[in-house]
Parts: sequence; structure tokens; C-alpha cells
Amino acid sequence: MSTFQAPRGTYDLLPPDSATYLAVREAIAEPLKNSGYGYVETPGFESVELFARGVGESTDIVSKEMYAFETKGGSKLALRPEGTASVLRAALEANLHKQGVLPVKLWYSGSYYRYEKPQKGRYRHFSQVGAEAIGAEDPALDAELIILADQAYRSLGLRQFRILLNSLGDQECRPVYREALQGFLRGLDLDEETRRRIEINPLRVLDDKRSEVQKQLVGAPSLRDYLCEACRAYHDEVRALLTGAGVVFEDDEKLVRGLDYYTRTTFEFVHDGLGSQSAVGGGGRYDGLSEMLGGPALPSVGWALGVDRTVLALRAEGVELEIPASTSVFAVPLGEEARRVLFGVVTRLRKEGVATDFAYGGRGLKGAMKVANRSGARYTIVAGERDLAEGVVQLKDMESGEQNAIPLADVVAEVAARLS
Ligand code: HAM
Repeated sequence: MSTFQAPRGTYDLLPPDSATYLAVREAIAEPLKNSGYGYVETPGFESVELFARGVGESTDIVSKEMYAFETKGGSKLALRPEGTASVLRAALEANLHKQGVLPVKLWYSGSYYRYEKPQKGRYRHFSQVGAEAIGAEDPALDAELIILADQAYRSLGLRQFRILLNSLGDQECRPVYREALQGFLRGLDLDEETRRRIEINPLRVLDDKRSEVQKQLVGAPSLRDYLCEACRAYHDEVRALLTGAGVVFEDDEKLVRGLDYYTRTTFEFVHDGLGSQSAVGGGGRYDGLSEMLGGPALPSVGWALGVDRTVLALRAEGVELEIPASTSVFAVPLGEEARRVLFGVVTRLRKEGVATDFAYGGRGLKGAMKVANRSGARYTIVAGERDLAEGVVQLKDMESGEQNAIPLADVVAEVAARLS
């Protein structure tokens, strides 16, 4: 071991487990690629101001959890704590919304950083795969995203997740509700910090996990009773589309998300096998964010699914992903001459697209076969001086144990044919 360790709240992805992470990322991206979403990649850091304005000054993410720093040039930057503000910033900057039909549909996959208290499922560096549909107000778009996430989780074999759905109203009805809620909350017996939260972000108080707070919240005004006609109709349509698609969800009027940009549809995917960090993904509509960033009105909706927590959820359900062996053929040379010849075969196989590896380091046959076995390769190619003198190599099927001498000149074609 070296004197260095991964920083607190982070961990390394190493083989073989890292293959599961890749497979999860791919499984989440697959339905998006199949539904008109184009890949977007933005920098790992942005101006602090983008997140302060986008995610919200009063949120924990911005006020407590941001890795913010000043560069030598005096710019105030932060490692990205989430993707939505960056993706919208990039779309606005490139005028994507002016270049074709709306919505602009984008997906992304990457690392995000939050200075949170580390625990199982909560890290300071984590991965998300996300999707944003920018510039259209259409309940079918909200439904599409929820359906695609559901499909992604199911394709991985997850079953014990639930979809929580809510509407947070819009700039017309939410302020009325906010005031009613503040009136109610001000009458409760709460600590100083929570009292401050009532004035800044009262909806977050509903999310307080402490039982002494929850007890007092019984009888709080419900947002559902305050939704305006347009928001109610929009929400009913999202619900109807989901039901029509056979996607099961739970109405959860207590669902308030930790980011300020949400309007109308909000949702969270929770997994019951994860303990307190149960949200494996979340998202919603953010109709006002573009204007908050100085852009035109671009009603939008999106989500991000946490890769780390999805992997934990798979473990909790005991789901083993079928990950094909990364090596199909393993070549074992016996002697110097064979090493040169088989190395050539390996290179030609790889050019043919056959995943091939080689016994490096001049090991003996026994040690090399052990490595071949461990590689999961379906075939090994072994050759010694005598084989080469006869112009053949030994091709062994590791599944059946059967072994044949194959002319050296034919081995690439033979292996490729057997594998296809
Ligand atoms: P979020 O709910 O903050 O939403 O994060 C989405 C997911 O990222 C969470 O459900 C969780 O799985 C994962 N995640 C968040 N923080 C951590 C952490 N510290 N450790 C491990 N996993 C974590 C957003 O980020 C929004 N940008 C989603 C969105 C996109 N809304 C609209 N478009």
C-alpha cells in the first residue's frame, strides 16, 4: 500500500466491479439514445454564480455542499454539484433552442461533487446519468422521461423501486400556497434554523426528517388544494399518460426536492433496500430556470439517476448483471519463437474485433493457463516449438475442454468463425 488513500467520501472503481458500473451507465443511457436524446458533455466546473442562481442560494447543495474555489486568475468556480444548470447553460450558449424544433433533448453521464457527510450511498464524488428535454411544455415529455427511467431500471433487473410523483405548482399558484404554508409554520414550535427556513424555503420544512417536526406538520396546508386549474390539468395528464403506459407510481404530495428550480411535475425514484439514502434518481420540470439564467422562456423537464446508488440497489436485490467476459481468446506461447508468432496472431485477432489477451512475462504453461482461465476466455491458443515446426497451433475450447491442432494460417479465421 502507498501512503496515499482515496479522499474521504470517494472510492475507486476497479475491476471486476467497475464493469457493473459501466453496464449500469450504459443501461440507463440506452433508452435515451433510443428516444431522440443527443449526448452532451459540459465541463466539470462552472462559475459559482451559475449554481447559485440555478440550483438556488438557499439550498444545502449551494450553501453547504459546493466545492467552490478561486482560480489564480480570480475566477470563482465550483466543481459541478449537479448537471441541469450546466446543460441548460450550454444549450443557451450554443443557441441550440434556435436551431431546430423544440424540445432540445440531451443526455449526459459524468461525475458530480458535493461536500456531504459521507455514508453508505452518499459520497462526495458520485456519478449520474441524466436527461434534459429543453423548451417544450407537454405532459407527454414529462411522462416520456419517467417511462424511460422506469424502463432503464427494469432492464437492469431492478424491481423493488418505487416512483414518487408530485406537482409543485407554478409561479401563479405556488406563491399563494407558500404564504399559506408560512402562516401555518410560523405558529409551530421550531428551532432557530428551521424558523429561518420558513422565510426562505418553507416547502423544505415539510421535508424535515425529525419526528418532533413531522408530528407538528399534521394538518399543514396541502399544495394539492392550492394547485391552479392549469397545473392540475397538466398533472392529471401526466398521471394518465403514465397509467396508460403501465407505469406504476405513487402520489406523494410531501415530495419536495432539494433544488430550487422545480415547477409542476417532480418525481423521485426510491429503492427500499438502501436505508436512508433511498433516492436512486430524481427530477422534474423547471419551467423558469432558463429565465433565471438570463435566457428566454424555455419550459423544460429532466432527471438524473445516480449510478452509485443504482449499483447498491442491484446488490440489495441480489441482481447480478450478466457481464460478458472481456476476453474471448487467450494466447499462450511456449518459447521465444512461439512468443513472436502468437503475438502476431493476437494482433490480427484484435484487428478482427476479437477480444484477445496474451500471456506476458514468459510464464510457464501451468501459470499461463491459470491466467487464461481467470480471464474468462472461451478459447486458448497454445503453441510450442514442435507445433510451429508442423505449422500449427493448439486451439482449446475452455468450455468443452476439446483441443485441436489448427494450421497457423487459418487460426484467425477459425476462431472468428467459431465465436460468431
Ligand atoms: P438530485 O436528486 O440532487 O437531482 O440527484 C439525482 C440523483 O443523484 C440522486 O437521486 C442520487 O441517486 C444521486 N446522488 C445525489 N447526491 C449523491 C451523493 N452525494 N452520493 C451518491 N449519489 C448521489 C439532480 O441532481 C438534478 N439535477 C436532477 C434533474 C435533472 N432535475 C432535472 N433535470
